[in-house]
Amino acid sequence: MKMCITTTAVALALAAQVAWAESPRSEPVQPVPVANISQPALAELGKKLFFDPRLSKSGFISCNSCHNLSMGGTDNLKTSIGHNWQQGPINSPTVLNSSLNLAQFWDGRAADLKEQAGGPIANPGEMAFTHELAIGVLQSIPGYVAEFEVVFGKSELDIDMVTDAIAAFEETLVTPHSPFDQWLLGDDDAITEQALAGYQLFKQSGCVACHNGPNLGGTSFQKMGVVEPYRSDSDAIGRAAVTGKDADRFTFKVPTLRNVELTYPYFHDGEAATLEEAVDIMGRLQLGRVYSEQEIGQIVAFLKSLTGEQPRFELPILPPSTNETPAPEPFG
Ligand code: HEC
Ligand code: HEC
Repeated sequence: MKMCITTTAVALALAAQVAWAESPRSEPVQPVPVANISQPALAELGKKLFFDPRLSKSGFISCNSCHNLSMGGTDNLKTSIGHNWQQGPINSPTVLNSSLNLAQFWDGRAADLKEQAGGPIANPGEMAFTHELAIGVLQSIPGYVAEFEVVFGKSELDIDMVTDAIAAFEETLVTPHSPFDQWLLGDDDAITEQALAGYQLFKQSGCVACHNGPNLGGTSFQKMGVVEPYRSDSDAIGRAAVTGKDADRFTFKVPTLRNVELTYPYFHDGEAATLEEAVDIMGRLQLGRVYSEQEIGQIVAFLKSLTGEQPRFELPILPPSTNETPAPEPFG
């Protein structure tokens, strides 16, 4: 009888161990889910549009110009360069894992990826086109018309179809299997001792209050400069631009920390050049805490363990323009 109980206990303990290895550790951060591509033809079309500079007035700027998928989905500039080499007002956030965010843009003014995707095409400081002209260009390209017809069942294109396709492509841009996610899934050896110490510090000192969930961010809007004010030359006022409320001044969508090793420079104004600098500023301004050099090294090692598997695919070959395609205007 006694023997039997012991065996059951062992069996239960083993079962628990197996369950532990298969399901995430119970942490305030969860692994990035693998992309579930429900409409592959739509996403393929969106990929072409994402890389197509003919959606801009100049015929030179594509989504990928500022969200370079070879560089973590950003341009690695303080602020972006738009049409006519205009200086952009704000840092370009990564498009990687952006489907996991509660809203799009630093101030959350677009509810989702589809709503966001129409913005840059018609933004005079970015692609400087209009939706009508962009549709005119696509409609003049038989290769596109045929592909839209296959995907949507009609050959009269509109901006809704374009933003649907781009959003579907962006939903595929997730970066699972980072070393930290492997640790979350039970692999003790997936991250270094230093990175693990950094994660403990990240949790204990309160970073995780704002940077949580699968994206370590993107779950809330928070003030930049909680304990000490943030000084910036940028005109961005954050969430207040959307809500009109004074209380929302300098409140921004908490950015993701996924792939943050690749998405330098940091903050909405791009003023923090390195991760060490960004962590030091976060500690002081958000938590009133001054970290030692060793502690900053630990947190940075943890942040670098958040670099996941980057989306990989063949560069899409875009269908050629025709004699009817309106000419680009790169210098006007
Ligand atoms: C000229 C540079 C530029 C181009 C071109 C551009 N973007 Fe952006 N993108 C930005 C900047 C800058 C922001 C942040 C703007 C803000 O928050 O006010 C942004 C924000 C975004 C976001 C929000 C991410 C987040 O987490 O908030 C997404 C998604 C995005 N862009 C996708 C696109 C797509 C799709 C295209 C092409 C149709 C595109 N962008 C073209 C610079 C650019
Ligand atoms: C009160 C909420 C809050 C806390 C606590 C907090 N952050 Fe942040 N974090 C933010 C916000 C908001 C931003 C964006 C600020 C901006 O761009 O002006 C940000 C930006 C960052 C960035 C730059 C990301 C990028 O792509 O630009 C890093 C890195 C970062 N935080 C790390 C940390 C670390 C490490 C801690 C703990 C020491 C921490 N944060 C604590 C809200 C918070």
